[in-house]
Amino acid sequence: MRAFISQANEDGRLRLRILLSLLLLSASLYAGAGEWLPLDNDGVHDPSSPAVKRLMEPRDGLSGLAPDDVGNQVRWPQALDQGQINPRTNLLPETKVEVLDKDILLDLYGSMPIVRFPHRIHTLWLNCNNCHEHLFKSKTGATDISMLNILDGEQCGLCHGAVAFPLSKCDRCHSVSRNIPKVKSGGAGEIKETGK
Ligand code: HEC
Ligand code: HEC
Ligand code: HEC
Repeated sequence: MRAFISQANEDGRLRLRILLSLLLLSASLYAGAGEWLPLDNDGVHDPSSPAVKRLMEPRDGLSGLAPDDVGNQVRWPQALDQGQINPRTNLLPETKVEVLDKDILLDLYGSMPIVRFPHRIHTLWLNCNNCHEHLFKSKTGATDISMLNILDGEQCGLCHGAVAFPLSKCDRCHSVSRNIPKVKSGGAGEIKETGK
């Protein structure tokens, strides 16, 4: 039984490593794609339609906003924070808008830097019930989150890689160094950097 479990863990780790390598490879091929495609050549719009000339070109709409090197090349949280965009928060007056300014640290014991999940950035765009309770429990550590699930398009991967920045941007989630300052013994509240 134990051999079976450790074999299953090995398989899981191998699969995770292969998936992550493929992801980084495809990201490095994509990087440098650069420009926004014109509407009459984006493979989505019909170039012969007169409507195409009446729509705003993505370059005209997006090039003035906080830049990014992935997705549609806009760093949306910065565009919002810097007041470059001002989206309507609700259609119906009775909709309650709630912004929660609370960071959650995840992946406390892994090999990658710790994941900082910012509630604030998410609740500027989303409602609590976009995530709670069906994706994540409202209790830190209560949900079994894993990178494999995320790469499979579940949990954080439901949005990241689909409508929010892609999973190839590891350090936007794994953003907190494990080299956390240690508390000096005896000195309440005093901290000392564990210098490298
Ligand atoms: C959208 C956020 C997000 C992105 C982007 C992301 N991760 Fe993760 N990752 C997580 C979360 C959340 C966990 C896990 C949680 C836990 O185990 O509690 C995790 C766990 C992991 C783990 C297993 C635990 C560990 O630290 O060893 C590995 C390995 C990992 N990620 C690698 C990567 C790599 C490599 C990339 C970039 C290709 C990446 N992740 C991008 C959110 C993300
Ligand atoms: C984008 C997804 C997402 C949205 C939207 C979201 N949360 Fe969370 N929330 C999380 C995640 C992830 C955790 C950590 C879950 C875990 O560790 O199991 C969490 C944890 C929590 C916790 C536990 C904190 C603690 O100290 O233990 C509370 C409370 C919470 N959320 C409330 C809210 C409220 C209220 C809103 C709306 C204003 C909200 N969340 C919106 C993803 C989200
Ligand atoms: C329901 C959709 C959704 C889910 C689920 C979700 N996110 Fe996000 N996340 C967003 C959106 C939308 C943004 C803002 C747009 C962007 O940055 O691309 C965002 C932004 C972020 C940012 C801010 C990046 C910056 O620019 O500073 C981090 C970090 C992040 N998410 C981590 C996570 C982690 C970790 C999880 C899982 C625990 C998660 N998200 C789950 C939708 C989601």
